[in-house]
Amino acid sequence: MRKTPKPKSQTPRPGVTPRMRKDLTELPEWLRARECPHKAQYLGGTRIQPRGITGREKLADLVDASFLAYNAARLREGCRLFTEKMLEPDVTVGMSLAGALTPAGLGCSSIVPLIKAGFVDWIVATGANLYHDLHFALNYPVRVGRYNMDDTDLRANDIVRIYDVLLGYSDCLMATDEILREILVQPEFQKEMGTAELHYLLGRYAAEWERKARVKDVSVLAAAYRAGVPCYTSSPGDSTIGMNVAGVELRGNKLRVNPSIDVNETTAFVLAAKRAGGRSGVVLWGGGSPKNFILQTEPQIQEVLRIKEFGQDYFLQFTDARPDTGGLSGATPSEAVSWGKVDPERLPDAVVCYTDTTIAMPLLTHYALARHRPRKSKRLFDQRGKMMQALTSEYFTHNKVKMVDGSEPVL
Ligand SMILES: NC(=O)c1ccc[n+]([C@@H]2O[C@H](COP(=O)([O-])OP(=O)(O)OC[C@H]3O[C@@H](n4cnc5c(N)ncnc54)[C@H](O)[C@@H]3O)[C@@H](O)[C@H]2O)c1
Repeated sequence: MRKTPKPKSQTPRPGVTPRMRKDLTELPEWLRARECPHKAQYLGGTRIQPRGITGREKLADLVDASFLAYNAARLREGCRLFTEKMLEPDVTVGMSLAGALTPAGLGCSSIVPLIKAGFVDWIVATGANLYHDLHFALNYPVRVGRYNMDDTDLRANDIVRIYDVLLGYSDCLMATDEILREILVQPEFQKEMGTAELHYLLGRYAAEWERKARVKDVSVLAAAYRAGVPCYTSSPGDSTIGMNVAGVELRGNKLRVNPSIDVNETTAFVLAAKRAGGRSGVVLWGGGSPKNFILQTEPQIQEVLRIKEFGQDYFLQFTDARPDTGGLSGATPSEAVSWGKVDPERLPDAVVCYTDTTIAMPLLTHYALARHRPRKSKRLFDQRGKMMQALTSEYFTHNKVKMVDGSEPVL
């Protein structure tokens, strides 16, 4: 076995003997007299002297040993918060997805494995992430390109670009749309529903396409369908799924997406976690409306439904957004405390890492899978009815209100 090398700074260099404060002859009297009662406490952190990287270390060990400062340290803290605290069995984990993640392959590489391991219990995504996920389920290739391509020529060649990712316009986008419209007019879609149900029904098709195309575990919607992980979108009209829902409505399609169902169901998950004596945590990838949608569950409980509650227990965000513009995308967990979104007692369990999701998500996924056993899926999709009932019942218990038509609520 290789001997652990002696840390370099402990080896005196010829002619220079390390000196401590007490040995310094030139130290001014005023500084010598200072007592510094908290000094040892402040300097009690891990010493920054990582071993040289060899290429033989495991990724999770590299994160623990070498990600020591700045956003690397936040990434390490985030990995540890997620793995050591948020994946406890009694924690319900919500995850928000903003930014073009599935087109970059993060659905296949990370989100599907996180779902399969039971590491995420409910999801709020932009419609774009779920729409582009369908190309993977349908086995339409999404390809690596370059960020500095000639977009006029791409347009002339029937190709669309998401930064350095390329998709066929008619071969992939329009083909997906056509199939999507065929599905949306099927009988099971002819009613009012929330987006969890919409995506669950789409997920059933996605799972079937995966099976037929013999591509395994490439679609978030298919994986969420299989695991009973409810998938919401915060802006149902703002994506090509929403555009196609609107398109078939012109032909008399009866599908109506009701966002209030989503608001109440997601709120019910958080309340149920707390009332079962457990905790609730959020992993926020990017900002945008999915971040707010997942976090507004606590204000919905406290401010709108007027039920006594204290906020999220765990907050982990990866973002590129600044806090100083006042936008919610960059808002910090301590700002969220003032809105009741995060429990002030739990602020030490809040981490914000300023980095690109395409870097952080595979690292966090690897770290969690390397350090934590899979969890049993909570299958929240199947529990929506029961949890909504509990939420409704608590709402009427806490508030002296009747139904809007004046009748007594039937609980
Ligand atoms: N074809 C489609 O359906 C389609 C395509 C693109 C966008 N859209 C819609 O546009 C809206 C906004 O889209 P969006 O989420 O792509 O963009 P966005 O730019 O609004 O991103 C939201 C937030 O996430 C952060 N963010 C984005 N990418 C990040 C990354 N890689 N790493 C870290 N932080 C990141 C941004 O700073 C911002 O705070 C959504 O509602 C989406 O559905 C639809």
